[in-house]
Amino acid sequence: MDLDIRNVVPDDFMGIARLAENCGHMSTMPNAVYHLFTRHFKKTSFVVEDTVNHKILGFLLGFISQDDPEESYIHLLCLDPDLRGNGMGKALIDLFGETVSQRGCKKIKLVTKPHNKISINFYLKMGFKSYKSHETVESEGLNIYKDFDGPDQDKIIFIKSL
Ligand SMILES: CC(C)(COP(=O)(O)OP(=O)(O)OC[C@H]1O[C@@H](n2cnc3c(N)ncnc32)[C@H](O)[C@@H]1OP(=O)(O)O)[C@@H](O)C(=O)NCCC(=O)NCCS
Repeated sequence: MDLDIRNVVPDDFMGIARLAENCGHMSTMPNAVYHLFTRHFKKTSFVVEDTVNHKILGFLLGFISQDDPEESYIHLLCLDPDLRGNGMGKALIDLFGETVSQRGCKKIKLVTKPHNKISINFYLKMGFKSYKSHETVESEGLNIYKDFDGPDQDKIIFIKSL
């Protein structure tokens, strides 16, 4: 299989939406959200594409904060289940980190669900640390932000320095 990692283009949004449906614990979004990223965050959003059939097999949707230009944020990251464990997730994180670093960012932030053990292990491997504050409680070595996204919607905030 020949794979290409490239910046998103507007027409990618449906391929991203289809793959997101297949992404396990990850939150799925209305298609309009994918459309926003493929139209307004092209420089910091990427897809992994099969160059033969042009199927999208992975994506990272991210942006640089408008409020703090030194902070970047990864909204969603997903690899096709058949492609996992081949270094593509790391390749997307590295490419995003290089891209935002060149634009002056000093850190990457993201949030994940405390029960998404696969993504937690992955982000720890990628050098992210769980954010600790007076609003977090510690559990199994991780800092959990209670009710971060509303009642009973606990999250882990991960931060990586660039
Ligand atoms: C999380 C995810 C993006 C990882 O992508 P991937 O391409 O499989 O990861 P990679 O092959 O690049 O692995 C990079 C490192 O993470 C480690 N890793 C990956 N998956 C892991 C797992 N399930 N458990 C432990 N470590 C894992 C790898 O061992 C590798 O470490 P190494 O470089 O020391 O060998 C992928 O599993 C996925 O799409 N999951 C579903 C969607 C999701 O939960 N996304 C995150 C929330 S937004």
